[in-house]
Amino acid sequence: MSPVSPDNDRIILGLGCSSGHDSGASLIAGGRLLAAIEEERLTRKKHDSDFPMQSIRFCLDRAGISGDRVDQVVIGWTPRGHYLKKAGILVHKSMSPRVMRRKAAFLRNLHYGTLNDGRTVRMLFPNASVHFIEHHMAHAASSFYASPFDRASILSLDGRGEWSTGLLGLGDGSGIVKIRESFWPQSLGLLYLAFTRYLGFGNHDEYKVMGLAAYGEPVHLDEMRKIFRFDPETIFHVDTAYIQHQSYSGCAKGDYWTSLVEKTFGPPRKDSQEITRTHMDIACSLQARLNEVGVEIAGNLVQSTGIDNLCLAGGVCLNGVMNYQIHKQLSLDNIYIQPASNDGGVSLGAALYGYHAIGGNREKIGFDHAYWGSGFTNEEIEQELGNYRIAARRLADVPGTVARLLVDGKIIGWFQGRSELGPRALGSRSIIADPRPAENKDIVNARIKFREEFRPFAPSVMEEHCAEWFDLDISSPYMLMIPTVREDKRGIIQAVTHVDGTARPQTVSRTANPRYHALIEEFYRLTGCPLILNTSFNVKGEPIVDSPADALRCFFSTGLDYLVMGDFIISKSMVYDEIDGIDKGESARGVGATAREPEAG
Ligand SMILES: [Fe+2]
Repeated sequence: MSPVSPDNDRIILGLGCSSGHDSGASLIAGGRLLAAIEEERLTRKKHDSDFPMQSIRFCLDRAGISGDRVDQVVIGWTPRGHYLKKAGILVHKSMSPRVMRRKAAFLRNLHYGTLNDGRTVRMLFPNASVHFIEHHMAHAASSFYASPFDRASILSLDGRGEWSTGLLGLGDGSGIVKIRESFWPQSLGLLYLAFTRYLGFGNHDEYKVMGLAAYGEPVHLDEMRKIFRFDPETIFHVDTAYIQHQSYSGCAKGDYWTSLVEKTFGPPRKDSQEITRTHMDIACSLQARLNEVGVEIAGNLVQSTGIDNLCLAGGVCLNGVMNYQIHKQLSLDNIYIQPASNDGGVSLGAALYGYHAIGGNREKIGFDHAYWGSGFTNEEIEQELGNYRIAARRLADVPGTVARLLVDGKIIGWFQGRSELGPRALGSRSIIADPRPAENKDIVNARIKFREEFRPFAPSVMEEHCAEWFDLDISSPYMLMIPTVREDKRGIIQAVTHVDGTARPQTVSRTANPRYHALIEEFYRLTGCPLILNTSFNVKGEPIVDSPADALRCFFSTGLDYLVMGDFIISKSMVYDEIDGIDKGESARGVGATAREPEAG
């Protein structure tokens, strides 16, 4: 049955598209958020930038409606945004015909890509009003309207929207007032990306640099201070003598940095090259400077508005090290960041903007968890297992059994409830393990994740115990703060404590995710440790699993011990009794057993 009232409920569809990565859709009906998902989860294409057709279909299915029932579509990107500024790049610097052609093609794509999306939207939703809003306004809306605050200072920072790269704003009731913007080529997101590439990583790998930074010392902080700084008029300033953003937009060939960076820090690292102390120090210095600039921007904003509720948004605010410094150094306890602070959350911001700013609604929709994606009943999971002829066992006590398996050293695929919005697994599509033995980090890496060994794993901690284990006395349900682990606890939770003594905890509340909380609580009862290791349920380079079929594929192609989906547990040593009857050959060690209730210590 459709959860939507046939006549009364106003249906608002938010779309994130045209920005070049992480498209998606969100749907609000009658003032309730019914669905929010990123396209990559459904198409299985990491950072999918295509028009979010599958996400739209998912949202409509979830609401049980067809496209002609939608009243309003809001797109988090506008073709008109900062048009004169865009046109200005045609006369910027190099005027050779070749560069001019490339610049013109870039602008054309920027403009018509969005218009084409708009045309598609009008065909799909013939009865809807269609609104284009600025990208950073969508980021700002995604944070402020999802937050519990009636009034808040808002800071959005990313690589680039239509032309703006940052926004300071003031949220008040149903409205957001823009205070200031920063514009390309000034961009903290692109600056961090430039160094990410300089250090031998790829686009979207900024989190690797953040992880690497913990190994280094900020010996290049003075040089970094020359490259970028806080600016009260333009939010921040990046010295373009060092960072060459033209290439990012297809406007010039070459790398994202100038020869001055190489003169200052040495030659760039190739992705096949070993990571040295020098690379760690550069990453550390970059992160230390970002912390300084981020704290200064946020501090200045809060001081100027006089409102110390702070909403953070944009891809740069996925940087939990910076976020934590903003919280700590400015003593700001009311900080809000929604789980998809990057472009994956633009559709949420667009839908919320439609509901609040366009619709004039002040009352919040109650965004109090991240679980707005695909969900499957036990019956649907059972059917999928049957399709693949997979033997499974239905558990009477899921949290209790899984906790005992974790204590016994098993690595488990945990597939429960609706999938999470955003880049972090938060206990719906997670790989979980005992956080205590240091070797568990290497085991998860070697058997499942196949990722860089310098990257840390995160803990999911019972919210009520967080402050005992981490220097964090506010909740962080979406893993967007990186505090230090209390010194006396570091030796206990070695698999989730980073080399510099920090961790990226997810605080889990009983209300937001009852089954996940019950699991950790059971683990706590058995061990005295109120947290578990939680990493995303995927292999390197793939989106997080979304459907049971995705989970099964990942399970059978990695070294996971068990997969727990809904109430079912699946082991790789399943049913071979029939083979025993017809083939007298030797059983391979460990695969002869019929599925039985897992034994755990
Ligand atoms: Fe963005």
